[in-house]
Amino acid sequence: MSDDLARPLSKPHEAWFENTWWWRIKVRLQWSGWLQYIPNLTAAVLMLLLAGIGGLIGVWSWLLVGLPLCLAALLFANLIFDIATVRFGLHPEEALPKPLPDLDAFDLMRARVSCRSFQNRDLSDEHREMLKELAHTYSRQENCIGSHPIRLEYLAAPLTVWPVVRANEFLVAVAERDYHEEAVMDIGRCLQKVVIEATRMGLGTCWIGPGADPSSIAKHMGTRFDPARDHVICVCAIGYASWYKPLLLRVAARSHKLRKALGELFYTDLDCSESMDPKAEVYAEFGRCFEACRWSPSSFNAQTTRAVTVIEEGRLVRMDFCVATKSRYYAIVALGIWLANWEYGCDTLGIGGNMTTISTLDDQRPDLPRYVISWQRDT
Ligand SMILES: Cc1cc2nc3c(=O)[nH]c(=O)nc-3n(C[C@H](O)[C@H](O)[C@H](O)COP(=O)(O)O)c2cc1C
Repeated sequence: MSDDLARPLSKPHEAWFENTWWWRIKVRLQWSGWLQYIPNLTAAVLMLLLAGIGGLIGVWSWLLVGLPLCLAALLFANLIFDIATVRFGLHPEEALPKPLPDLDAFDLMRARVSCRSFQNRDLSDEHREMLKELAHTYSRQENCIGSHPIRLEYLAAPLTVWPVVRANEFLVAVAERDYHEEAVMDIGRCLQKVVIEATRMGLGTCWIGPGADPSSIAKHMGTRFDPARDHVICVCAIGYASWYKPLLLRVAARSHKLRKALGELFYTDLDCSESMDPKAEVYAEFGRCFEACRWSPSSFNAQTTRAVTVIEEGRLVRMDFCVATKSRYYAIVALGIWLANWEYGCDTLGIGGNMTTISTLDDQRPDLPRYVISWQRDT
C-alpha cells in the first residue's frame, strides 16, 4: 500500500531511497504523527532566517525584518496551538456533528469530503452497529459485480495512518491475495456506498491507501488477516469530524476543490478525444449524475476515471467506464467509487441499469485510457 501499485501487505519490496537516512527520519516522523507539524515549523524557521538576513543587510527593515518576524511569530503560535489541541487534545469537548437526513442524494455525495481530523470519542453503539450492518450488506456476494469475495472488516484500533489524526475506527477493505480487477473495483463500489450512508449519518470518513502503514494493519487485524490468503486494498477511517486540525491539513483540504472539468472526464468516443457537452439536451435527464462522479474521492485526487457516453436514438443508453492510468489498485478503486456514485444518482432519478462487461470493447483499447466496465441502461 505504500505506492500507487499498492503492493500486498505480505510481500513488500523496497525502493532504493527507502534505505537512506533522510527517508528513515521522514518515515519515523510520519508514522509517529509528527510530520504534519514539520512544514509549519520549517516555514517559521525560514521566516526567522529571512529576518536575520534582513537585519544583516540593514535596509528596508520593516519589510525584510519586521514582516518575516511577524509571520514567524504567527506560524510559531499556530504550531503551539495545533500541537496543544490536536496532538494533546487540549480543547473543550466538541459537539456531535449533525446527521444530514434531508439532503438529497446529490447534495449528500457533494457534502462528502475526506475528513482528516477526528474527535477524541468513539462512535456511538448505534452508529457502530449501523456501520457494521452496512459494510456487511454491501459487501455480500450478491451485491458485488465480480465473483471473487471481498470483506469490509470493522476494526477499532489506533492504526498508523497518515496524515489523518485521531482516527481510531476503520473499515478495512480486504480482497483475495491473488489479483482480480473486479474485486478491487467492488471494494471501491461497495465501500463508497457505506461512505455515502455514513455521510448521511453525520460521520466523517477518509479513504486511506498510501497513507496507511501495512504492518500496523496486519498487527491489529490479528487472526482476521492471513497474508497467504488476503490482501488489504485500503482502509477507511470513520468517526466524528473535529474542527481542530494541523495547519497542513487545513491547507490540504483545499485540494478537494481542484476537480477536472466535466469535459476532461466524460467523452463521446473510446479514444477520449471528443469531450462530452454536459449541456446537450440528450444528457439533461441525467441531471447531476455527472457531477456526482466528478466529486468522487480518488487517491491523491488523481481523478483517473473516464467515462464514454453511448447515444442511441437520441437517448443515453450506455456509459463505458475507463481508467486513465496503469495503476492496478487505486485507479480501479476510484473507478469503483465512480460506479457507486453513478448508480446512486441514477437510482435517485429512477433510471434503471446494470453493470456489464463488453468484451469486444476490451480488445479495442490496448492502450490508455483502458476500458473496464459499462453501465447498460434498462430497455
Ligand atoms: C483509494 C483512495 C486512497 C486514498 N488514500 C489517502 C491517503 O492515504 N491519505 C489521505 O489523506 N487521503 C487519501 N485519500 C483521499 C484523497 O486524497 C481525496 O479523496 C482527494 O484528495 C479528494 O478530496 P475529497 O475526498 O475531500 O473530495 C484516498 C482516496 C482514495 C479513493
